This record gives sequence, C-alpha cells and structure tokens, in this order.
Amino acid sequence: MIYSKVIGVGSYVPERVLTNDELCGIVDTSDEWITSRTGIKERRIAEEGLTTSDIAAEAAKKAIKLSGLNPEDIELILVGTITPDMIFPSTSCIVQEKLGLKNAAAFDISAGCSGFIYSLSVADNFIKTGKYKHILVIGADLLSRITDYTDRSTCVLFGDGGGAVVLTANTENARGVLSTHMHSEGGHDDILMLKGGGSLMPASLESVNNREHYIKMKGSELFRYAVNYLKAVAEEAIKFNNLKAEDIDLFVPHQANIRIIEATAKKLNFPMEKVFVNVEKYGNTSSGSIPIALDEAYKSGRLREGNLVLIDAIGAGLTWASSIIRW
Ligand code: UT7
Repeated sequence: MIYSKVIGVGSYVPERVLTNDELCGIVDTSDEWITSRTGIKERRIAEEGLTTSDIAAEAAKKAIKLSGLNPEDIELILVGTITPDMIFPSTSCIVQEKLGLKNAAAFDISAGCSGFIYSLSVADNFIKTGKYKHILVIGADLLSRITDYTDRSTCVLFGDGGGAVVLTANTENARGVLSTHMHSEGGHDDILMLKGGGSLMPASLESVNNREHYIKMKGSELFRYAVNYLKAVAEEAIKFNNLKAEDIDLFVPHQANIRIIEATAKKLNFPMEKVFVNVEKYGNTSSGSIPIALDEAYKSGRLREGNLVLIDAIGAGLTWASSIIRW
C-alpha cells in the first residue's frame, strides 16, 4: 500500500488586516453583527499587485523547505483556486516558474472552497497509482478581488490567503492520506456564483455596471447545505476507515463561519477542544482555508506526528469533500 505522507506544510497571508470596525465605515454593518453571526473579527486583504500565484508560491516555498526536498524533486503542482491570476495560463504554471519547479506538470482545480481537498484527492490518487512520488498541493484564493464591497451580506465574510502541503509516496507505514471523499451537486448557481468574465457572459460595460464580476451568495440557504453536507461527508470518511469520532485527534473544518463549524462539530459529537478554529483571524479564504489551518495547527503543536486529522469543506458547485490523514 502506498500512502501520500505530508512531509511539508506552509501558509502565507497578506500583511494588511481589515477589521470589522473598518468595514463599518464601508457598509452598513457592526462588529456585533459580524462577530455574532460569523465569528469573524478580521481578515487579510492583498495589497495592489499581489496575486494568487504570489501567495501560493510563498506558502509552497515554506512547505518545500520543511519537506527537505529539492525543487527538481517535485513532479506535479496542483493549485485549488477560484481566483487564478488570469484565465490562462494556469496559476500552477505561474507558481512553477516562480519556484523553478522545472520537472513538474502543473494544473489548477476549480472546486470553490473544496479546492484544496479536491486537489489533495487528485494528488493522493496519482501517488497511490505510482505515477508520481512528490507532489505539491496548494490551496490559495484572493477573494477580495471578487468581493463586492457595497454588498454587506458578503463583503464581511471573505479574506485572502493560501497554504500548501508537500506529499511523498510512503510505503513504510500507514502514515499519510488514509482516504478522500468528493461530492458535487450542480444546479445551485443561484446560491453561490460569479457569473461574469466566462464564456456565458464575457466582460462588457454592461456586466461591469451590473456588478457581475463579484461573488453573489444566498447565505442562509447555503448555511443549511453546509451543516448537513459537512456532517455527512465527515461521517463518510470516519465510517470508511472503520473509525469512531473519538478516534479523531483534530477536526479541521473549512473556516467559513463559526456557527457552521460549531453546528457541524455538535452533530458529529466532537468537543470544540478537538476542533481547529481560526476563522476569527482570516474569515473565509476559500481554498486557502484548510491548508492555512493545517499549517497553524502543526506549527502550534496541536497536530503532531501520528495524529489522525479529519478535514472537510463545502463550496460553490456545490462541491463538498473530506479526508482523513494520519499526520
Ligand atoms: O465557503 C462556502 C461556504 N459559505 C458559507 O457557508 C456561508 C454560509 N452562510 C453564512 O455564513 C450565513 O448565512 C451569513 C453569515 C452569510 C448570514 O447569516 P444569517 O444568520 O443567515 O443572516 P441572514 O442572511 O438571514 O440575514 C439576517 C439579517 C438580514 O436582515 P433582515 O432581512 O432580517 O432585516 C440581512 O439584511 O441580517 C442582515 N445582514 C446584515 N446586517 C448587518 C446581512 N448582512 C449584514 C451585515 N451587517 N453585514
């Protein structure tokens, strides 16, 4: 059996902090509303000129350094993102060039906030089939670039950031990705989408005037899907591995809203001490959310070698996914 073992992890968030109080000067909101409805206190916003590939490359650099591999060892780069630098070339190709990963194939994966776990799943299967030994998996998004700062129902939620892991083929023991589980359900464009700029609606004066290049979301409808699907896909992973909830050392859910995290944890019988939360610092960073959290959990000592970590996420599509990793 070949396991995809995590041998490096890293993350990067822009320096600029946007607080709830600052948002009160931009839209009709309050720190009290944002904190009580979402748990978010602040988020990071990329300065002008900074791109998703910059953030992805910074996170990846740290992960590769920790892994001890050389840049030439990386055979595949996957970037989960919905905010690529440009429509093409892919952000992963831009990262490849920035980091000199000259022996790697590279492509992006668009799966909304599930982008990192989808990418991890693809990577794990390439490793399990013996095709590649060393893969760089990145989740990175600059949601501030597609957020409408006149829409109070969305602009308080999102932030910028990214994280990365380096996977290596491990045949020595059962450490690494134990399983991944992916689901999709199209037909929910009305709940979460960004319509403008694709083949359906190329950029035009009209699309810009109608603010079609920004995220449109029906939050409370998505909230219900989120809690139910995140619970179901976490249970699927636990059952698949013949585990019980109490066997999991750390649950790292997508960081979209503390109420979603708490409701999911409750349904799964996870005490909050076993749940990693950093949504208060970054808001929802889409594909960046899980790898940033994994990096912080590892560096703060909450995730140790041999621990069982459960991750899950839901996003546009809808897509949702989970994985259990023996760290
Ligand atoms: O990454 C993909 C996953 N994303 C998510 O899972 C997001 C899921 N949804 C959510 O997190 C929550 O639904 C929100 C935080 C977006 C909203 O919370 P809610 O409890 O569902 O509130 P709501 O949308 O039902 O809005 C309640 C009220 C409305 O006013 P009325 O109609 O009751 O008078 C909104 O206009 O809150 C109002 N409101 C705000 N008030 C102050 C909406 N946004 C704001 C705001 N500040 N920023």
